Parts: sequence; structure tokens; C-alpha cells
Amino acid sequence: ETASFRQLWTESDVKRTFPVRKRSSHKGTHGKVLVIGGSHQMPGAITLTAKAALRSGAGLLTMAIPDDIYPVVANRIPEAMLLPCRAENGYFAGAMDVASLAIDAIAVGPGMGRTEGTKQVVQAALAQDVPVVLDADALFFWEEYASLLKERTKPTVVTPHPGELARMLQLSIQDVEKHRFTLSKQLATDYGIYVVLKGPYTIVTTPDGKQYINTTGNPALAKGGSGDVLTGIIVAFLMQHASVQAAVSNAVFIHGKAADWLVQHGHSPLSVLATDVIDTLSSILYDLG
Ligand code: APR
Ligand code: MG
Repeated sequence: ETASFRQLWTESDVKRTFPVRKRSSHKGTHGKVLVIGGSHQMPGAITLTAKAALRSGAGLLTMAIPDDIYPVVANRIPEAMLLPCRAENGYFAGAMDVASLAIDAIAVGPGMGRTEGTKQVVQAALAQDVPVVLDADALFFWEEYASLLKERTKPTVVTPHPGELARMLQLSIQDVEKHRFTLSKQLATDYGIYVVLKGPYTIVTTPDGKQYINTTGNPALAKGGSGDVLTGIIVAFLMQHASVQAAVSNAVFIHGKAADWLVQHGHSPLSVLATDVIDTLSSILYDLG
């Protein structure tokens, strides 16, 4: 085995790799994104992902949700389009027609639950020839996705917290905490995917095993919904960056930076909500030009 490549991803790396928006751009230039998730029990998660993606520069956004939670989700984000999908009891009941949508990237998982329909929806997403982010419940039936993952030609990004990575690798959370670098590298290189192992000092690992450590973020993020916001930032950045690694590392950096800004500007970490992080993105991104 070759020596490990590990490096901190700092503000100067973000500034160096951050895309410049051209004056001649239009909404199509910045990418059409599909976010898939939500359920009877968690209708808010996918809304957070969608709003974060729009606040991070996505040009056009469609939210695919189980059709029986439509009344709860509709009108939350006037900028978003909706794709109500076949559902049963508030959960996805099968795959939707993704191919006809002409999209540039997909994020799937937040709040979608763990039904047979979840599996079919994730498989449909992975069958599309666009970058895909798998988060939360989209990581639940992990072993079912192995062959599809290996066939993919566009980037795949997974964003587990330690509990999710433990389940994916069939290990204990203690094992994951002890071997965060080795295990995320193993997952990334085995499947040829980008792995974002979340927590304080989130590690981004590339398919060839390079690792970038994030330096931003604080316990204000330790609250339901923070991960859903990160997923939205990642999928939006994927469409706007030349380098996938830079897109993912920059998303993780800015997500943490927004939380840092809040606790430095009169917000208690106890009170910061995922929504507040989304609302702070605009000024954080402004500072990057
Ligand atoms: N310091 C820095 N960052 C932190 C800290 C901390 N102390 N605590 C949490 N974070 C960041 C993580 O790095 C990550 O980006 O907040 C985010 C939390 O993401 P998740 O763990 O996915 O949490 P979230 O999605 O909001 O809620 C958990 O979603 O994934 C499902 O099964 C999971 O039901 C659970 C729910
Ligand atoms: Mg999560």
C-alpha cells in the first residue's frame, strides 16, 4: 500500500477552488437538481435539503416526495418544483420515472424512511448517468446497491454519520470512531465513491483514497436536520465545481462555517436550528465572492 494522503481543507483551499459565476449565466447553467426524500414521519428533512441546495446556487430544483404528504410539503418553498410520487401510508411505494426529467444531479435519502419503496427509489437514482448523493435512509439497504454502484460512470457521494457507516460496514460505532480514516478509505476505494464521514472533523475521502479533513463546525450542528442541509449544499456544489473533491470539501467547510458564524454572532449553540444554518449561507457565500 502507498503512503496515505491526508490534508486539512482550509479557507485558502476553498477560496482557490470556489467557482466564479459568469455574468452570462442562466438558471440552466447552474444545474437542474432532483432531491428525493420525505415521508409521513419526516416531511421536513427533504425541505431542508431543497432549501439548502437553492441557497447554494442550484439553478432549478425539483423535490420528489411521496404524493400523500404533498399537502404538507407544497408551498414550503415557492422556488421549488414538486414531483409527487406513488406512495403508501406516507412512504415511497416504488421508483418514479427519473429518466424523463433531464436533470444534472440527484440527492436522495433525507427523511424517506426504510421501506421496500426506498430501495427501488435509490436504485432508480443510481441508474441515472448523473452525480448522485446518497444520505440518511438511502444508505440503509447498502448491500443492495453494490452492483449498481460499480457500474456508475458519474460520481457517487455518500454522507454517513458514524452510526450509518457502522451499519454499512456491519461494525460497531466504537470501531468506526476508532478507525475513521481507515474505514472511510476502505469504503471509498472498494466502491469507487466519495465518502463524507461526518462529525467533528468530517473526513472527505476520494475514490482513490485521498483524505481531506474539515476544520469548521461546532456542536450547534448536533441537532436534527443539520445533515439534511449538508446534503443540499453538496448536490448544488457538485453541479458548479470542476473538481468533485473540491465541491464536496467546500460544501462541508461552508456548512460548518455557517454554524461557526452563528455562534460567534449572538446565537447560542443550544438554539441554532438547521434552518438558521441555511439562512446564514448567503452571507458566508458572499464573503467568498
Ligand atoms: N461538531 C461539528 N459538526 C458537527 C457536530 C459537532 N459537535 N455534531 C454534528 N455535526 C455535523 C456533522 O458533521 C454533520 O454534518 O452536523 C451534521 C449532522 O448530520 P447527521 O448526523 O446526518 O444528522 P441529521 O441528518 O441532522 O439527523 C440525524 O438523520 O441520517 C439520519 O439516521 C439519522 O435519523 C438520523 C438523522
Ligand atoms: Mg443525517
